[in-house]
Amino acid sequence: MDLTFNILLMLHLGALVVAGATNVAMPLIGRQMAGATPDVIARLGPIAGRLSLNGRISLGVLVLTGIALLWLRYDGNAGGLGPWFTAKMALVIGIVVLSVAGLFARRIPVSPKLFGLFNRALLVAIVVCAVMAFG
Ligand code: HEM
Repeated sequence: MDLTFNILLMLHLGALVVAGATNVAMPLIGRQMAGATPDVIARLGPIAGRLSLNGRISLGVLVLTGIALLWLRYDGNAGGLGPWFTAKMALVIGIVVLSVAGLFARRIPVSPKLFGLFNRALLVAIVVCAVMAFG
């Protein structure tokens, strides 16, 4: 059971690395694409698409492995883990909602810069809450 937990925690933290890297790379690519010529957009577009897919997959892995970790070590008792864990869960809901909203970003008027900034702030706040809850 301990080995399963450890492997899941490694996957959880591995997914966090991918999510964090995507969070840093996306705004850089977005900045290059803003106002770029069609051939630059054609070159960077697929990279941006791949990165945002990676970001969504890593978020999915974080949520699934997180639920499994909670189940294995804490019997699914989220309420017993204190206020930092509650805050973490609230922020996770926020980032999932934002990620789903991102799928429709072209249809809703939202600044990509603000969107990225908010996403990054949420991710950092989740890590702070996780470390305060478990560290
Ligand atoms: C964006 C989403 C998430 C991020 C960035 C994240 C981040 C982290 C980090 C950094 C740790 C290590 C904390 C430490 O050991 O000091 C951790 C552990 C953990 N997370 Fe998450 N997490 C996320 C989602 C979730 C979800 C959705 C759940 C549960 C429903 C969850 C449950 C847990 C549990 C149970 C641990 C392990 C506690 C232990 O070592 O005993 N996480 N998470």
